[in-house]
Amino acid sequence: MSRVTTTGIRDMKANGRKIVMVTAYDYPSARLVEAAGVDMILVGDTLGMVVLGYDSTLPVTMDDMIHHTKAVVRGTERALVVGDMPFGSYQAGWQDAMKNAVRFMQEAGCGAVKLEGGRRSADAVRKLVDAGIPVMGHIGLTPQSVNQVGGWKVQGKTPAAAVQLMHDAQALEQAGAFAIVLELVPAPLAALLTERLSVPTIGIGAGVGCDGQVQVFHDMLGLFDAFSPKHAKRYADVGATIRDAVSAYAAEVRDGSFPTAKESFKMDPAALEELQPAPQQAIRRRHALGLDA
Ligand code: KIV
Repeated sequence: MSRVTTTGIRDMKANGRKIVMVTAYDYPSARLVEAAGVDMILVGDTLGMVVLGYDSTLPVTMDDMIHHTKAVVRGTERALVVGDMPFGSYQAGWQDAMKNAVRFMQEAGCGAVKLEGGRRSADAVRKLVDAGIPVMGHIGLTPQSVNQVGGWKVQGKTPAAAVQLMHDAQALEQAGAFAIVLELVPAPLAALLTERLSVPTIGIGAGVGCDGQVQVFHDMLGLFDAFSPKHAKRYADVGATIRDAVSAYAAEVRDGSFPTAKESFKMDPAALEELQPAPQQAIRRRHALGLDA
């Protein structure tokens, strides 16, 4: 089975086929989303929030990302795996970006990397693309800059802010990004950007006019209850299923109804007999204890 390629993703836009992307952070979730037939898997730095329990993506390190991306790659054969460059891995300049993107490709085995920022990241994007590393851009709300933009807010709502976003998107396109994530962008603006760009847009909270969509695995499956973003649709409540299953297990352990013979292992009765005390030993023990006096 051959992997989806970045050119295949670009062709999907040209052919008007919607692109499906979802995050995954480990081997079992990667196998599940692959089996569901997604086109791309993002090993997002949302890892920090939905898996590692931080309150933002900022504490996530390259080593965290490589560890989880390796597991996702092992769980897939077909989907294009995109590694998300964490905070601090590219902001200091293209040399850092190159060193860390190479780790994603070489150590983790993914097919592309993603980094946040428009014009400010365009130089790094160009250098990576020139080195043969496919790059996905990410503009609109960029969670690694949450302290600068003052929270998880919709971006590009005023004419001036919308123009800035357009310039950012164009800078990424010109730098060679193969696709651009639009996060928390008003739907009409995202549709306009999608129309004007030759590369696919992948929306999250950016409306139906994008070329594709990305969702966070834990949000869409009810596995993360700290908060539920407006842009996330819950397709299942797996969290409730897990809670109910573990409660049933706890009750059965406590009342002795688990394990049953079905989950236990047998032993040859003769072998068990050999473990019993010999009759003479048993008699001597009874004498010693004064039980037969
Ligand atoms: O880290 C992530 O999961 C992301 C998506 C929200 C696009 O960047």
